[in-house]
Amino acid sequence: MTYVVTENCIRCKYTDCVEVCPVDCFYEGDNMLVINPDECIDCGVCEPECPAEAIKPDTEPALEEWLALNARYAPAWPNITKRKEPPADAKEWDGTPDKLKFFSPEPAK
Ligand code: SF4
Ligand code: F3S
Repeated sequence: MTYVVTENCIRCKYTDCVEVCPVDCFYEGDNMLVINPDECIDCGVCEPECPAEAIKPDTEPALEEWLALNARYAPAWPNITKRKEPPADAKEWDGTPDKLKFFSPEPAK
């Protein structure tokens, strides 16, 4: 198994999660992060750190799409290990449904 970053990270990108990962397996896109499933050791410590509750174990149902997205973009995006300021409007996006349409495949600048 692995943990995966899911939809509610998009445009929230709080980055609290990266500080606690013992194996530094978070990768940063333009408007969300992903976990590299090949590097995650399933420790679970990142899950409660996310204010947006966007991190889930892939044992939860219907996360295939998000697992595939994490696996696809982790090798393409830069590693992130230090928290940074979230977007100014992160709170407004927290909980917005159907955020996948806002997903950016671009790496973080
Ligand atoms: Fe890192 Fe553990 Fe979260 Fe996996 S479950 S991303 S190893 S903190
Ligand atoms: Fe995203 Fe939550 Fe981390 S919003 S950047 S998964 S703390």
